[in-house]
Amino acid sequence: MSFLHNKNILLGVTGGIAAYKSLTLVRRLKEQGANVQVVMTEAAQEFIRPLSFQALSGNTVHLSLLDPAAEAAMGHIELARWADLIVIAPATANSMARLANGEANDLLSTLCLASKAPLAIAPAMNQAMWANTATQENLQILQQRQVVILGPVAGEQACGDVGDGRMMEADEIVEKIQQLFSHQALSGVRVLVTAGPTREAIDPVRYLSNHSSGKMGYAVAQAALEAGASVELVSGPCALSADKRIRLYRIESAEDMLQAVHENLAQVDIFIAVAAVADYRPQQVAVQKIKKQAGSMSIELIRNPDILASVAALENKPFCVGFAAETEKLEQHARLKLQQKKLDMVVANRVDKSDSGFNSEYNSVTVIWDKGSKVFEKTTKSRLATDLIALIAGHFKQQKK
Ligand code: PMT
Repeated sequence: MSFLHNKNILLGVTGGIAAYKSLTLVRRLKEQGANVQVVMTEAAQEFIRPLSFQALSGNTVHLSLLDPAAEAAMGHIELARWADLIVIAPATANSMARLANGEANDLLSTLCLASKAPLAIAPAMNQAMWANTATQENLQILQQRQVVILGPVAGEQACGDVGDGRMMEADEIVEKIQQLFSHQALSGVRVLVTAGPTREAIDPVRYLSNHSSGKMGYAVAQAALEAGASVELVSGPCALSADKRIRLYRIESAEDMLQAVHENLAQVDIFIAVAAVADYRPQQVAVQKIKKQAGSMSIELIRNPDILASVAALENKPFCVGFAAETEKLEQHARLKLQQKKLDMVVANRVDKSDSGFNSEYNSVTVIWDKGSKVFEKTTKSRLATDLIALIAGHFKQQKK
């Protein structure tokens, strides 16, 4: 599986002859498993029809800031939040100037201002325009703002000139984008993640469980992998598949998860417990399917072991990160779990909203540790996981010092 698997890439196409190469770029990104949304400027539409991008990306192309139909489907702010990365290819001299100036007078420029996603541009223009002081000054401004510059490369140009200004080929751009997603903050580090729900059997056909989809835990495992860690994932029942490089253990119940975690703890440096483990299980599992009876019935529940607390209590404990799913008093309850379970960090997750948390593509959390906290606003779980891993890696390294 590629580093781009399930990544949300917003491709901005501006008005240059190299726009035809962006069609190949969309194909290559899709081949790598990325989700691609295309935004075209008015000038870009003079070179390529939006329908071509629609066919290749599988999504309606976004053309205008003031299109009520488009806004009703996926509004520009939603699109800005959706993106894990914005790539502008080709980026003309004009679009670079507008970015450097912070203009917001069309959809693409507005998205660049509204999104917190990293921005990469693949400049393409006549060699004299590229060499012009104005363009070079704009380039410097963009570099200072951490915009990733992909190219341009030297060669023969559409206008007959020879020199710097050709847009990078699609394959090269994809390779660079892959590198952006694979920073090596956890190189040589072993990470164990739990994900998904547990199922606590009542009888052979029934169980107690919860709404965890596994999305957050799998995203955390993937982000740790992309940061260079070797990753093991103990997962409750869910429909997701993991990257081939992640060692995956599928389990059912909390007791299974406890066993799988402790069997795989040797040499683990960081333990991240994202799983929504059932706190209770039926005291007795009926051997046969329980038959309906007149009137009500009750099931005696007993406490499940606390997997995270059991790991954090070990003498040679790894760096322990818990998630705390809360519906009220978020920080207060999460901080209590940090202390009671003796954790290094806790990710406080508000789970009373339908558009984030359990079984959603999105999440918003507050990470809490002994002497501080950091809020992460609502974003995709994939992007959040990358940010969380970067934060966890920083604290882990500090503790090791
Ligand atoms: O799977 P998704 O649909 O993507 O949803 C993600 C999520 C909402 C499940 C996730 O972000 C989350 O908040 N996970 C923690 C859920 C939870 O069980 O929270 P808790 O407050 O009950 O538990 C606190 C911590 O102790 C958690 O790290 C949990 O894994 C751990 N725990 C809890 C009980 C138990 N018996 N053993 C444990 O290890």
